[in-house]
Amino acid sequence: MLVLGIETSCDETAAAIVDESACVRSDVVMSQIAVHAPYGGVVPELAARDHLRHVRPVIEEACARAGTSLSALDGIAVTCRPGLSGALLVGVQVAKGLAFALDKPLVGVDHLVGHLLSAFLRYPDLPAEAPPAFPFVALLASGGHTALYRVDGPDPSQMRELGATRDDAAGEAFDKVAKQLGLGYPGGPVIDRLAREGDPDRIELGWPMASRRSLEFSFSGLKTNVARYVERHGRPGDDRNLRDLCAAFQRRVVDTLVKKTMTAAVEHDVRTVVLGGGVAANRELRERAAAAAAKRGIRLVVPPLRACTDNGAMIAHAGLSRLARGENDAPSLETSPHTALPRVTRKGRGRRPTP
Ligand code: KG4
Ligand code: ZN
Repeated sequence: MLVLGIETSCDETAAAIVDESACVRSDVVMSQIAVHAPYGGVVPELAARDHLRHVRPVIEEACARAGTSLSALDGIAVTCRPGLSGALLVGVQVAKGLAFALDKPLVGVDHLVGHLLSAFLRYPDLPAEAPPAFPFVALLASGGHTALYRVDGPDPSQMRELGATRDDAAGEAFDKVAKQLGLGYPGGPVIDRLAREGDPDRIELGWPMASRRSLEFSFSGLKTNVARYVERHGRPGDDRNLRDLCAAFQRRVVDTLVKKTMTAAVEHDVRTVVLGGGVAANRELRERAAAAAAKRGIRLVVPPLRACTDNGAMIAHAGLSRLARGENDAPSLETSPHTALPRVTRKGRGRRPTP
């Protein structure tokens, strides 16, 4: 069974072909970083226009690299929520058009479900790692999302959010702090590199949502503390202050992410933790998460970076089982800016999924 996955929810135009054994036959990602870099963040209108420009060539390239034609596909999966409205619409409309023209079934996929199952993808050019065992706790930290999930099985009904950021996503905080420091966009990789040579303990920035009990995050206060430091001391040049400031900021973000992830794993008595999202590229996060997991006898699964960042393969894989069951969302498929995954808080108070 061959499924085409289409992803246009934010700033990557992506398409991939995945088979029923989660093997990625092709995986094409067209990044819009250059489009948004001058603005220091994603501009929704520009994102939608750029998706429109690139989505067809990206899909064609995915088919070409997999050595298949559109007519040989068994179905199409497309991200339909959550994301930027205009950006989502491009992918969904193209998917609907293809499904109608080719007479193929089409299913809509929650982008977060795609991320939560991305550790199951297998790439022919990489050594195969054992997939995570259910149940697991997943930390998803990207430019658009930062939340912890409990995943009991592959169906979206078996996934629930345990806590999310109240304000900025972790990647967004990296990007905004980098903007304040004049380091360009995206900020994560630059801060990651500078922080390696800095002292995380010299500059005091306060700790974001330090309470171990809470599984919620908040990074905007930390970002404000960096802004205050810059107001008081001026923007650091390419010197020790810059490296120490990056190291201090990163240490606080990483420490918070790792502590809360481990708290969730211990509280839920799960033996596996999975990292996902672009921030999973962060070296300190990988190292500290690995050390914290080893200390508790927990298996840490960090998928290859191409599976962690936005891609079409995770969407194809997440849609595959519904397509295999003969389900079809076309032509009524709609987009939504919100996830449908439920949130379960500690006290058992649940937030109902947004329709
Ligand atoms: O998952 P992703 O590619 O796209 C979405 O946001 O959906 O994540 C991009 C985010 C950006 O905010 C970027 O600054 C951050 O991931 N990022 C990093 C690193 N590499 C990328 N953050 C910290 N350290 C990194 N090495
Ligand atoms: Zn994402």
